[in-house]
Amino acid sequence: MLAALLAIHLLAVVIWVGGMFFAHFMLRPSANDLELESRVLLWSRVLRRFFAVVWGVVLVLPVTGYAMILLYLDGLAGQPLHIHLMQGMAWTMIALFVYLYTGPYRRMQWMVGQLLFPEAGLYLGRIRTVVTINMAIGIMTVVVASAGRYLS
Ligand code: HEM
Repeated sequence: MLAALLAIHLLAVVIWVGGMFFAHFMLRPSANDLELESRVLLWSRVLRRFFAVVWGVVLVLPVTGYAMILLYLDGLAGQPLHIHLMQGMAWTMIALFVYLYTGPYRRMQWMVGQLLFPEAGLYLGRIRTVVTINMAIGIMTVVVASAGRYLS
């Protein structure tokens, strides 16, 4: 069961961090020279699908993480530093995602619905900033979580 929880945990990490990496380093530069309306419509569709999956991920990560801690790893108090850091960074990422979804993303989708593409483009810029920050934290979290046990 511990193995299954860890495997699900890591699949969720790969989907979230890998998805942000793909969006930032492959899709964004490739979509940059599209005209504004096409670019906004593309991102509106891409983000709708990706964020639906991310909602699942932000549920799965704490559930599997705390299940491992409480059922197999002797509770929260005795955990090494890298596990505490992972949790702190994870909640920061989750808070940023919830802000992103309920704020700039919702507004962007509303603007797209009203065919206000320049305004939607402004919110797209904010989304990009927050996703870039979350991707950086996500990469650092993977490094801390996986290398941490060999350092402490
Ligand atoms: C509240 C949320 C989270 C909790 C409670 C949590 C907890 C845990 C626990 C207990 C383990 C197993 C550690 C071990 O076997 O020694 C683990 C593994 C791992 N977690 Fe998390 N985690 C959370 C979120 C995240 C996030 C957001 C990421 C990355 C973006 C992440 C990346 C990893 C990685 C890479 C491992 C594998 C470490 C290894 O076995 O070498 N975790 N996590």
